[in-house]
Amino acid sequence: RILIIDFGSQVTQLIARRVREGGVYCEIHPFNKVTGESIREFNPKGVILSGGPASVTHDDTPRAPEELFETDLPVLGICYGQQTLCAQLGGEVSPGKHHEFGRAQLEVIDDCILFDGVWSKTDTDQVWMSHGDTVTKLPDGFRVVGKSGNAPFAAIADDARRYYAVQFHPEVVHTPRGAELLKNFVHRVCGCGGEWTMAHFRAEEIAKIRKQVGDKRVICGLSGGVDSSVAAVLIHEAIGDQLTCIYVDHGLMRLNESEQVVTVFRDHYNIPLIHRDASDLFLGKLAGVTDPEKKRKIIGGLFIDVFEEEAAKIGGADFLAQGTLYPDVIESVSFHGGPSVTIKSHHNVGGLPERMNMQLVEPLRELFKDEVRDLGRELGLPEILVGRHPFPGPGLAIRIPGEVTREAADILRQADAVYLDEIRKAGLYDEIWQAFAVLLPVKTVGVMGDSRTYDHVCALRAVTSTDGMTADSYPFDHSFLSACATRIINEVRGVNRVVYDCTSKPPGTIEWE
Ligand code: XMP
Repeated sequence: RILIIDFGSQVTQLIARRVREGGVYCEIHPFNKVTGESIREFNPKGVILSGGPASVTHDDTPRAPEELFETDLPVLGICYGQQTLCAQLGGEVSPGKHHEFGRAQLEVIDDCILFDGVWSKTDTDQVWMSHGDTVTKLPDGFRVVGKSGNAPFAAIADDARRYYAVQFHPEVVHTPRGAELLKNFVHRVCGCGGEWTMAHFRAEEIAKIRKQVGDKRVICGLSGGVDSSVAAVLIHEAIGDQLTCIYVDHGLMRLNESEQVVTVFRDHYNIPLIHRDASDLFLGKLAGVTDPEKKRKIIGGLFIDVFEEEAAKIGGADFLAQGTLYPDVIESVSFHGGPSVTIKSHHNVGGLPERMNMQLVEPLRELFKDEVRDLGRELGLPEILVGRHPFPGPGLAIRIPGEVTREAADILRQADAVYLDEIRKAGLYDEIWQAFAVLLPVKTVGVMGDSRTYDHVCALRAVTSTDGMTADSYPFDHSFLSACATRIINEVRGVNRVVYDCTSKPPGTIEWE
């Protein structure tokens, strides 16, 4: 196992992810919680020091515990981790004259065990930099193995003590060979095998959930999406019928989605499930409302009310389970109290745990979406659920600009299903982050057979993305789009024109509202 000491970088979780990809168990511990004793207790085979926003040139900024250097454990410092490693071992760090941010060229100066099978002497390759300070004097025992334009000590090594450090970020995809460097550190330097898999994660999390929950009761809001589904199945495996799932159907789900959720959870997994059809309530309150934020707020508020009502009927619970993922954790940290403006009020059950006096169970907090999908497969969830595109909490309401009616939702469900059917048939579903149809409140004139039509415009959207934060419109062949248009207009009553949305994010957003 590997210990990652976190100095607060936005991408520390990516280090963990790369280590896991190498089949090695790891944990991230915040720097201020790590002591010599906690290291001995955790008993790692190696330690990675993460990046971070502080400057080691200031006093009272974070340091690695001194006892770390009294153990004989291998250490890899990344960015801030490199700087503090050097400063603590007798080197020097200075505020850089030139900040380096973004892509840089690494020149390999010498061979190094980290570079085995990746780079040889005199190679150059792209790495990702994000630093202001720079190491300007190496501690005794170190040699330089790589440099970049603004970092003379971009990669350094002390083979005798097995200390290595890099100024760049090997954990991000913009350092294309970085993952291999991290694997060399954990496998070749630290001697970890590569046996750890999602099956181990499953077993470890089950043990943790049992310990956290004891014999208390847990409720989980299912949304039909992959995150809450995987969380629910994992928790059910841990504590059985102490878990009750609540599925609030707001009438704005995709075609057949509610039936699928109920079938999978009740029939396949035998998980206690409350299915509340609240479509009349939601559509009633949405009548006449056209403002996107108002729609979101109404749905979010009603969702919490209904959820609370159903939870009360079964006598409440001590814990609320949520399928929170790591990107959600990071997003809410930077959103709450951060300088960013609210673009959209995201729908979640925020505030509910306090209101109902419940603690949270969030077994997926450290995972990324694709890791959650792997875990879902490990738990035997059907591919249709595991591989499904993300779907927003407010559902089709934010894909119907203007007033949401049952009739509009029915038209949209049909058009969306045809579009996705075409995408699946073309084998494109897994290449696309999210694809969906939008029903516009605009009507246009058309001709079908010999008659005039006057019906709605349907817009098609498909984007590629890695995290939903930025996105590009998917470049379909024109013939594919024409085929979708023909099928939708022929099969869905109420639509007589189809257009494709080719806006990226930014400046657009993925959803239309
Ligand atoms: P936008 O439209 O902001 O969407 O570019 C980014 C990603 O977030 C999803 N999304 C939501 N997910 N509740 C959610 O759970 C919401 O209220 C919500 N709004 C947008 C959207 O589908 C995309 O994947």
